[in-house]
Amino acid sequence: MSLRLRLNLLVAGLNLGFLVALTWLLVDNHRRSIQEEVEAAHRVTVQMLGTAAQTSRMFGSAPMVMVDYLQSLKRVRANVIRLYSNDGVLRYESPPATYKAGHRAPDWFEARMQPRLQATVIGLPGARIEIVPDASRSVLDAWDSMSAIFLLGLGFVAVLHGALLLFLRRLLRPTEADARRLVATTLQLAENREVTRLIQAGVEEERKRLARELHDELGQSVTAIRLIAASIARSTESDGAVQGTAKINEIAAGLYDSVHRIVRELRPAVLEQPDLAAALADLGREWRVRHPQVELALELEGDLGDLGEAVTLAAFRCVQEALTNVLKHAQASRIQLAVSRRDGRLEASIEDNGRGFAAEGVAGGAAGGGVAGVTASGHGLIGMRERVVALGGSLETAAGAEGGFRVSMVLPLPGDSE
Ligand SMILES: Nc1ncnc2c1ncn2[C@@H]1O[C@H](COP(=O)(O)OP(=O)(O)O)[C@@H](O)[C@H]1O
Ligand SMILES: [Mg+2]
Repeated sequence: MSLRLRLNLLVAGLNLGFLVALTWLLVDNHRRSIQEEVEAAHRVTVQMLGTAAQTSRMFGSAPMVMVDYLQSLKRVRANVIRLYSNDGVLRYESPPATYKAGHRAPDWFEARMQPRLQATVIGLPGARIEIVPDASRSVLDAWDSMSAIFLLGLGFVAVLHGALLLFLRRLLRPTEADARRLVATTLQLAENREVTRLIQAGVEEERKRLARELHDELGQSVTAIRLIAASIARSTESDGAVQGTAKINEIAAGLYDSVHRIVRELRPAVLEQPDLAAALADLGREWRVRHPQVELALELEGDLGDLGEAVTLAAFRCVQEALTNVLKHAQASRIQLAVSRRDGRLEASIEDNGRGFAAEGVAGGAAGGGVAGVTASGHGLIGMRERVVALGGSLETAAGAEGGFRVSMVLPLPGDSE
């Protein structure tokens, strides 16, 4: 729910609550005053007619005198007066109210406001007078004043709400300066990504050059050393010299292997043909030969063969660095490397069962953290993150499920449909 909608609902709720409370208070107040007013009017009318009924006998036929009296009295406020002869015939009824004649409050309102009062009967020789409390005018007055107040309140609340919404809209609307800042930041971010991409490309280029130099220069020199050693061995009679040249040959062969390994690391096959699945399988094979003490489980999902050079290389370099980190820092016996392509993104996670980040005693825990807290001592994770972010992805480090360390990254694949 948006902030604006939430504020809207809050204000509307408060206003509604205010209106309901106001109405309840008014209804209660009016009900009590109607009760009191009608009760008092009824009591006075009963007293007055009681006295009149007693005196009426002195002036002849009581019912006739009373009808005359009542006709001259006309309507008494808040009471309906009727006179019945003993045989039940209605001889007199007070006229209807002229005040707001023809109007009534709605039935439900009348029922709610009606005071609880009984009719009073006064007996006469040969007749009876019935005095019925009638609150209809007072209830109508209450209804009229309450509707006016309610409408006024509603109007006030609506105006208040409208003004508040306008104010909120103005308050929450991003200013032109905000928009400019946002655009500038976005541009800066894109620029940073581009710069990182260029730097990474430069680094890869430099690695290629180094690999070439190493291969051509050092490789050829080592080969030359071996050839010279072989020719010395052939031309000498001395046992010591033969043994010496054999040793030189052996060391040179080891050096040759090392150079080749470094060349492969600097310029992996993935650079020649960007196929992440093949490159990771290669990496796995080499790992098992060189580090048999650390089991590497590879789990690949989806087609990783045509991810493009940038994504393939970034993912490969990140995996390389994460595996190196396990060797350097983790003391693990097992690594789980999972790479999958699905829902328009490439996900990779490298998890070990080693000592975990906190065990190394560097400030900040790895669990749930970003890269920032983990980069106290090196640039490996920073570099990984830069690579991934340059391609619009993200990288996180966390504690592994078995207490080790986990690096996970996500790279968007805009070419894939979700
Ligand atoms: N697999 C791991 N197990 C434990 N700690 C790790 C692991 N990977 C990285 N770390 C911690 O994160 C730090 C930063 O790693 P990195 O940026 O690659 O730098 P470096 O490897 O040069 O120390 C390491 O120094 C180490 O403390
Ligand atoms: Mg490292």
